[in-house]
Amino acid sequence: MVRARTTPGPGRPRLVEDGAAVEVVLDGAARRFHAIWLRDNAPEPGTRHPDNGQKLITVLDLPPQTRIAEAQWAKGRLRVRFTPEDLTADFDPDWLAAHAYDALGPAPPGWTPPHITLWDAAIAEALPVLDFETVRAEEPARLKWLGLIRRFGFARLRNGPTTDGAALDIARLAGFVRETNYGRAFDVRTEARPANLAFTALGLPPHTDNPYRDPPPGLQVLACLRSAVEGGESILVDGFAAARRLAWEDPEAFRLLARYPARFEYAGEAGVRLQAKAPMIGLGVDGELTALRVNARSAAALTDVPYEEMAGFYRAWRSLAEMFERHDLRLRFSLAPGEAMVFDNLRVLHAREAFTSSGARWLQGCYVDRDGLYSTLAAAETEGRMR
Ligand code: FE2
Repeated sequence: MVRARTTPGPGRPRLVEDGAAVEVVLDGAARRFHAIWLRDNAPEPGTRHPDNGQKLITVLDLPPQTRIAEAQWAKGRLRVRFTPEDLTADFDPDWLAAHAYDALGPAPPGWTPPHITLWDAAIAEALPVLDFETVRAEEPARLKWLGLIRRFGFARLRNGPTTDGAALDIARLAGFVRETNYGRAFDVRTEARPANLAFTALGLPPHTDNPYRDPPPGLQVLACLRSAVEGGESILVDGFAAARRLAWEDPEAFRLLARYPARFEYAGEAGVRLQAKAPMIGLGVDGELTALRVNARSAAALTDVPYEEMAGFYRAWRSLAEMFERHDLRLRFSLAPGEAMVFDNLRVLHAREAFTSSGARWLQGCYVDRDGLYSTLAAAETEGRMR
């Protein structure tokens, strides 16, 4: 992605509040930056290591009385001289524009950052299904596939492996495997005495996996190795789109589900007792929608909702569950052998329709941390390898 260069000016930088800040014009918009913030981020070798870019100072090294003595545009950069240190640093206008914090408006609860596109079934059906071998062998295809996961919260593959270990082969393309008590990978197929309802032929309502972990798994890979059953279609729902719709249609329900923690637990096998406490709608301190935790099978008794709010909380919970049933939000498809999907388990809910278990059905899954994927994409963007 090639970004247009930021145009500095016109006009000289203007000192504000006796040099406690400076106002500059970037692409025609006035933006203020504090002296102490600029000093903290000064691109000079005493502040950041020239080789690895790591920071060499702490907040204790910043004189509290830091002021800007002088600011001017010099060779297209903002040159700032700080007192009392008598330090000069030049700032790239592109960097300043990308990091400007002036004029941040109030954001609505449940906002999402621009790299995310919320979807409904119609949009999601139009997304490409990429070829496993192409994604594995060709970097542009791999970056495109990873970009789909970051933007839409899921991506599909075809012509993939159908042998044991298929999920791990796919996981390697996305990041680093998160091992759990289910192993590095796990099989989803019908079992005679299942420890988990996933291993039966029952339908499963839309859910996120493992909300009883802290943190829950970031990405999930599900690869189809065998399928000779009737039914068993996969369903994906953009949980962020559903939560935003809930915020719009029923703000009180959204408030309750984001305000109070739910509890989740899993104790299906000897020696394992996983428990976590977190809201079903997770928001950052600035109201950003960060995670959904929705799983009827592992919901424990609610003990953190006050008596006065409990009846309303159940109404809210029901409203959220009804939202996930809306047909226009549900992407429905069948996974044939060799097909796979990777989805963001903190955003996209998955469901499965019931199937007749006379034939073989074998899906293999594994969990992958999200940061590897974000890192690969960010590095490719910084190095200009994204198209
Ligand atoms: Fe699941």
